[in-house]
Amino acid sequence: MSAAPALRLSGRATAGGAPVFGPLSLEVRAGEWTCLLGPSGVGKSTILRLLSGLGGDVAFDGVAAADDGAPLAGRVALMAQSDLLMPWLDAVANVTLGARLRGEAGRRDRATGLLGRVGLAAHAHKRPHALSGGQRQRVALARTLMEDRPVVLLDEPFSALDARSRALMQDLAAGLLGGRTVLHVTHDAAEAARLGQNVLLMTRAGITSETPPAGPVPRPFDAPETLAFQGHLQRQLMEVE
Ligand SMILES: Nc1ncnc2c1ncn2[C@@H]1O[C@H](COP(=O)(O)OP(=O)(O)OP(=O)(O)O)[C@@H](O)[C@H]1O
Ligand SMILES: [Mg+2]
Repeated sequence: MSAAPALRLSGRATAGGAPVFGPLSLEVRAGEWTCLLGPSGVGKSTILRLLSGLGGDVAFDGVAAADDGAPLAGRVALMAQSDLLMPWLDAVANVTLGARLRGEAGRRDRATGLLGRVGLAAHAHKRPHALSGGQRQRVALARTLMEDRPVVLLDEPFSALDARSRALMQDLAAGLLGGRTVLHVTHDAAEAARLGQNVLLMTRAGITSETPPAGPVPRPFDAPETLAFQGHLQRQLMEVE
């Protein structure tokens, strides 16, 4: 894996002439896990799409780039908010899809291993329609982990999971993605309090940085300082108009 760059995004986004967000400015530190927390509709997914080069019909007047000057294309894995699994492929084939499109052979073992790590060993040959919402989300997570990119953008990656699976998948992702530049969108204050080495709070007024407790991530979900930070973040979210 090449060195993980810092990311920078600043500017204003519009869709059909209507504002989506901004003007705003954010920085994502190199090789660290940053959570982007904010209410529904504020523009979090749009930020991830712009950074991954999939702005679609959103017009953006600023910069969305790596700060090392090299293009981000080819260095980013995006786990989108909807799982985007191919309905005609089973779980293993969905996880290996990127590798197969790039003509890389022999990745099946790694894919099967990752499906085991996300708790789906017994479901590896099911197609998406035969999986639950949380199982589909774990296939999408395995596909993202399979990509092995220095920059990883996660859009509500654990939102469909029960509390226990969510904590397990948070631990797994934090372990496997350590040292990469991760931007993780969530609207869950508990999740940001557990995982964020940096936490950015996005409201219509812009982006502010919140200082998390010291120490390694993932933080214990029941440690007093984790819970206090979760409460602080939730309080900030409640005060958004
Ligand atoms: N292609 C588009 N055309 C028109 N409006 C758009 C487009 N993309 C996003 N928007 C609008 O921009 C705003 C931000 O959308 P976005 O999906 O980024 O929000 P979000 O913060 O990810 O919300 P959520 O937490 O609900 O996923 C919304 O009001 C949405 O309707
Ligand atoms: Mg979104």
